[in-house]
Amino acid sequence: MWRTPPPVGEGPWPVVKPRDRRFFRDALEVLYPESIVEFGSWEGASALAWASQANETGISVDIYCVDTWLGSPEHWQNLLPNTEWGQERLRIVNGEPGVFDTFKQAIDLTGHSDRIAPLRATTECGTSFLLQHGVRPDLVYVDADHSYPAVRRDLALASSLLSDRGLLTGDDWHHEPIQRAVMRHAVQHRLDILTDKDQDVFILVPKSSGEQMRQAWLDRGYVMESIPKIAASQLRNVALHVRRSQRP
Ligand SMILES: C[S@@+](CC[C@H](N)C(=O)[O-])C[C@H]1O[C@@H](n2cnc3c(N)ncnc32)[C@H](O)[C@@H]1O
Repeated sequence: MWRTPPPVGEGPWPVVKPRDRRFFRDALEVLYPESIVEFGSWEGASALAWASQANETGISVDIYCVDTWLGSPEHWQNLLPNTEWGQERLRIVNGEPGVFDTFKQAIDLTGHSDRIAPLRATTECGTSFLLQHGVRPDLVYVDADHSYPAVRRDLALASSLLSDRGLLTGDDWHHEPIQRAVMRHAVQHRLDILTDKDQDVFILVPKSSGEQMRQAWLDRGYVMESIPKIAASQLRNVALHVRRSQRP
């Protein structure tokens, strides 16, 4: 562990760039949101993507980033070493993660601090704070802890925040616990699931009132997921896993 904070922009701490994904621009152009809440911001790549796309499209939007900046289990366990999710990117100094410094610097250096408001709290505390202050976002982007119970909780918290026309979205659709949690939420709340072709993001659209919204995403190349198909594929994976674990 480091005694002095390592400078951003050197060694394993490159300068943060906006995440390069069409979804951010598509979401802004489909929704024209007045405010967005992001659950899980890490070094700021997705927050920068929201802000830079907002600048390019001329859409005025406030971006609230809710994160503890303490990292998730996968960062502490160093499941993806030498990537942007590696343990070293937590920047632990004397036992304390410093990834918030990376985030702050990225936002300040790119001149987006007027658009992006960090809220250093758990998603639970952040949600009650935003509700208290009347923030009702038109979009919530869920990308915090990726475990099944955490995603279930975050989807419920996000729904409680959304404005009447608000849309629930999130990252890492390809991750099995996320698919399971999103499916449960979608069935419970009668929502359709749309994803991008790379299976990165998910978008939840109300079955009853979302005809135009659904079509806007389909026109941009997003696809509808079939819940029975996902469930069947997950069951197959479980069966495969059980069979493998029973092999002598
Ligand atoms: C996958 S990263 C976010 C990545 C970011 N959206 C991006 O694209 O660059 C997950 C983040 O969630 C945060 N996090 C994990 N559990 C949380 C919780 N219960 N409340 C708030 N933030 C949490 C972690 O600190 C971490 O920064």
